[in-house]
Amino acid sequence: MTQPLLFALPGEEAFTAALARHLDADIGALEIRRFPDGESYVRLDTDVAGREVAFVCGLHEPDPQFLPLVFAARVAKDLGAARVGLVAPYLAYMRQDVRFKPGEAITSVYFADMLSHCFAWLVTVDPHLHRWKSLGEIYSLDARVVPAAPVVGEWIKQHVPNPVLIGPDSESSQWVTAIAALAGAPFVVLEKTRHGDRDVTIAVNDDAALRDRTPVLVDDIISTAHTMMAVVRQLRDRGLPAPVCIGVHGVFAPDAYRELSAAGAARIVTTNTIPHETSEIDLSRDVADAVESLIP
Ligand code: R5P
Repeated sequence: MTQPLLFALPGEEAFTAALARHLDADIGALEIRRFPDGESYVRLDTDVAGREVAFVCGLHEPDPQFLPLVFAARVAKDLGAARVGLVAPYLAYMRQDVRFKPGEAITSVYFADMLSHCFAWLVTVDPHLHRWKSLGEIYSLDARVVPAAPVVGEWIKQHVPNPVLIGPDSESSQWVTAIAALAGAPFVVLEKTRHGDRDVTIAVNDDAALRDRTPVLVDDIISTAHTMMAVVRQLRDRGLPAPVCIGVHGVFAPDAYRELSAAGAARIVTTNTIPHETSEIDLSRDVADAVESLIP
């Protein structure tokens, strides 16, 4: 493999350093700042000519992160990089995959289109695939998806005695079934009705499956945490044990982490696709393997 040159967007320094160790890659110097008028200043302070370049940018705050990322990719191409790839451990704008109301923007398609114009390849972890069955339906670059299930399953095996996995909605079933098989645990998948951004109802009916075990709630994204809180409260109301809550991507909208803790989660754990105090599960090795598969 050609030795890649990685650039960390702000906040991604630790993940980028871990990737560089696994890949024996160089880390380049990148300056990003805002002018007083709010525009972005972007400068690459490492020679990219002829190099396989990758920018590492978790897109958990996509709107402010996007434009500096695009400028960085553009300048790398201008300065002669052989190819420019993107490592986005969390891929934003996957959830609006249909027009629910007339006039709505199908942002998953438009975002995919814009990123596909900027990058030759993309590595991400468990994108929110629901109506889109693969990234190839909307992305026209070379995309690799890293599944979190193996490391999450291993974490559960090592940290949770006698677990039963709970998926809060039908979309979660793809992750929950895979993780349950790897953790050697039973699972249930619940049904969620979403009434608004912070208003969901979830029914827990099958108490027998959950009794005498440690409930482990697993979802791909924790955003407002209202999905997880709806389940935590139901378990509490039924006298069932407090659950361990695992999110692959801890997006955590303001106050979400505090509210989920206060609702009665026994423990909240996420992977390091988004840096957070709950990021206990390390995916850098698996992401590095995917990057390696893309670099000649
Ligand atoms: C949506 O279907 C996802 O799989 C998650 O369940 C959802 O994004 C969680 O969002 P929140 O934490 O805001 O309830």
